[in-house]
Formats: sequence, structure tokens, C-alpha cells
Amino acid sequence: GAHKPLAGKKVLITAGGTIERLDPVRYLTNDSSGKMGFALAASARDSGAEVTLVMGRTSELPPDGVALVRVESAQEMLEAVLERYAQTDLVIKSAAVADYRPVFRADKKIKKSGERLVLELEKTTDILQTLGELKTKQYLIGFAAETGDLDRYAMDKLQRKHCDLIVGNDVSQAGAGFNSDTNIIRIYDKAGIVESLPLMSKLETARRILAVAAERMAHLESG
Ligand code: PMT
Repeated sequence: GAHKPLAGKKVLITAGGTIERLDPVRYLTNDSSGKMGFALAASARDSGAEVTLVMGRTSELPPDGVALVRVESAQEMLEAVLERYAQTDLVIKSAAVADYRPVFRADKKIKKSGERLVLELEKTTDILQTLGELKTKQYLIGFAAETGDLDRYAMDKLQRKHCDLIVGNDVSQAGAGFNSDTNIIRIYDKAGIVESLPLMSKLETARRILAVAAERMAHLESG
């Protein structure tokens, strides 16, 4: 039978990488394909949720049956997410958001000149942290992409960004992280490791993340 543990829930998922423009034809980005976020969106949809997918630059087609919001920069992603936050029950931040953006964005294509060119960057707003600080009823799941010391850095991000759960992703492991069809993750709550998953498809990984989230959300509702 159809098991719809997220029926009636509004779920917002961010996917892909942000684009931080230097000039009209050049930008800074990262290797995110959107696959992890798309798998989460498809899986939340299949669990009965009303899904909004806020997507940056991706190399894949988004799933059907979800509302799409396309953005470029971290700032645009922040605004798109904040606009919808009050009406959202569950947020999952799988997007790879730029931590820094160019201080200046040229209106015209930057001309080749000297032997060296120095780019000056400034911090972007941390979307997840902002959501954590504004949290009321929302269940908030962050990701932590790390290349070592996964437990320590993931737990640190969970606490600093006020998440209910964080998905630790050691992106230095083969078959895990950016652009692959599989992933290897660990789910944490504030007490520590909740689940440590072996290599599996991003869709199966997404289902496991959403199963934990749905169970925790139901538990919170039942008091
Ligand atoms: O898209 P794929 O190719 O399938 O790859 C999946 C993935 C590797 C991108 C995904 O599994 C993943 O790990 N996503 C998080 C990437 C990331 O930006 O991690 P981080 O550790 O730098 O950031 C921690 C958290 O803060 C993330 O939830 C991120 O969305 C959020 N963040 C970061 C910076 C910022 N300015 N705003 C944010 O909200």
C-alpha cells in the first residue's frame, strides 16, 4: 500500500551549486550536480509531501511533481528560501552554497591586461544558519560536506547552525559526494550519530534521510 508519512507536509529542498558572477560571462561555482537534492525532492514527493525545490546550477533534470524555483547566487537562494520559510514544515539544505562571492561584479566582460589578476571575495550570508536562527515550528536538516574529521565538523555545524539533523558527507570517499549517483552519509542529531549508511544510491540515501525526518517530526507532533 501507499505509505505517505509526509502527507500534508510542506517540504523545501535546495539543490545544486550557486553561481557567483564576476562579469556577464564568468562566474565561480562548484561541482554539485543537484543529484542528491533531486533524489530528496523525489523521495519527499513520493512520501506525500508538497515539495518546493530551490535549485541553483545543476547538470541534471529536476524530478516531476515538485514546484521549481531557479536561482543563481547564494543571495538569491537565501531570498527564495526566506520567502517560503514561514509556511514550510521541513527544510533540507543539500545545495552547495558559495561561502564567498566576488566583491565587485563588472557590468562588462573583464578585459585581459596584466600578468596577474587578484579577485577580492567577501563572505555570503549563511542560509542554513539564518534559518536556524529564525526557526519556529520548522524541522531543519543541513548537510556537511567534509574531506576529513567528519564527526567533529558535522557536529560543529549542527550546533552552530541550529539544525535538528545534519547529514555528514565525506566527499573524499570514492562513490560519495559531488556528482556521483551514489553516496555514503552519516546522520547526526545533537546527541551524536543517528545512522551511519554504507554506499548506496542517492535515491536510497534520500529515502533513509526522509524516513528519519518523518519519524522525528511525527514524534514531536505527538508531544
Ligand atoms: O549535488 P550532488 O552532485 O549530488 O552532490 C551532493 C553534495 C555533495 C553537494 C551534498 O551531498 C552536500 O554535501 N551538500 C552540502 C554542500 C555544502 O555546501 O556543504 P558545507 O559543509 O559547505 O555547508 C554546510 C551546510 O550549510 C549545507 O547544508 C549548506 O547548504 C549550508 N550553507 C553553506 C554556506 C552558505 N552560505 N549557506 C548555507 O546554507
